[in-house]
Amino acid sequence: MISCNSWTSCSDASEAKLRNILVTGALGQIGSELVPTLRAHYGADRVVATDIRMLQADSAAVEGPYEHVDCTRPHQLHEVVRRFDIGRIYHLAALLSAVAEDKPQIAWTVNMGGLYNMLEVARQYECAVFFPSSIGAFGPTTPHDSTPQTTIQRPTTMYGVTKVSGELLCDYYALRFGVDTRGLRLPGLVSYAAPPGGGTTDYAVEIFHQAIRYRHYTCFLAADTRLDMMYMPDAIRAMVELMEIDPPALNHRNAYNVTAMSITPEELAAAIRKRIPSFEIDYEIDPVRQAIAESWPRSLDDSSARADWGWAPRYDLDAMCVDMIDKLGARLKQARQS
Ligand code: NAD
Ligand code: SER
Repeated sequence: MISCNSWTSCSDASEAKLRNILVTGALGQIGSELVPTLRAHYGADRVVATDIRMLQADSAAVEGPYEHVDCTRPHQLHEVVRRFDIGRIYHLAALLSAVAEDKPQIAWTVNMGGLYNMLEVARQYECAVFFPSSIGAFGPTTPHDSTPQTTIQRPTTMYGVTKVSGELLCDYYALRFGVDTRGLRLPGLVSYAAPPGGGTTDYAVEIFHQAIRYRHYTCFLAADTRLDMMYMPDAIRAMVELMEIDPPALNHRNAYNVTAMSITPEELAAAIRKRIPSFEIDYEIDPVRQAIAESWPRSLDDSSARADWGWAPRYDLDAMCVDMIDKLGARLKQARQS
């Protein structure tokens, strides 16, 4: 981690804020909610959504500029940053933990190659960069309870290797070239707008879909597997707030621990049962995702984020369940009727 003193030489944060915003991997779970939030804050025309996938007519990203961009192709990144006068980048494009474990070579190319290309473009065009790290950046030798901001990071998954390397590369670009890089170590994210992209924490989203539709869920993690989670509105707010902070406040760049709750599948099932009393859960453990989950922290210490830039989650387990069941229920009902 680098100290705040190193940031004074970072490219002018206020100047970058006057230019437009780029989101890569914009059609994924996070991008589907980040893009509309950024457009509501800064104006639809100022936020350019990009992804390797084709834009569907019902996507939230249709409400403003959209470009097809593969982050492993540097010229495509140069072109979009130059053409749209980009000053701030949310670089979301990546493969998640379970997919990355299945395709480690592709994960390295996309997660690391893509980030390197993005940082190079950011260096040349003086852009600020948000990098989403993860609880996956920790490993079996990390203290698993109240995992500190600065601690052992020896992950045993390709996803984790790319997240630690990504944190280091972002710090390097900040120190060596003055690129204004910032990041969060996000926990598993729960949301209703878009499906999760193939991670170990996906159970915490699937469980709501199955509970609302069938009153039953078969979980791929063991009942007592404890992991950090966060409801998407808190995660989106954290990303937007972090990028708005004046650099001297930041004692860490890549990346701040943030969390909202530390829960197990059986605790989540019990919270859902308060609203859907007939809901039942059983377990068929997937050994690959179980091993990944057991290598990650059980709970993060996010006191640095709280102290440095006032981070505080607004949704605990019960508040998240109430909102998720409400909003997802309405969505599924609307889909059935159309
Ligand atoms: P996601 O899988 O839902 O979305 C990723 C998007 O990246 C997809 O739309 C995909 O099409 C796109 N993509 C893949 N390869 C690409 C390429 N070569 N060029 C451009 N786009 C490409 O993932 P997400 O959940 O939205 O996560 C976004 C970021 O946040 C990732 O870096 C992920 O590691 C990180 N993160 C997510 C979570 C979570 O729980 N969702 C938690 C911690 C960190
Ligand atoms: N939710 C992500 C995953 O499970 C953690 O970064 O891959």
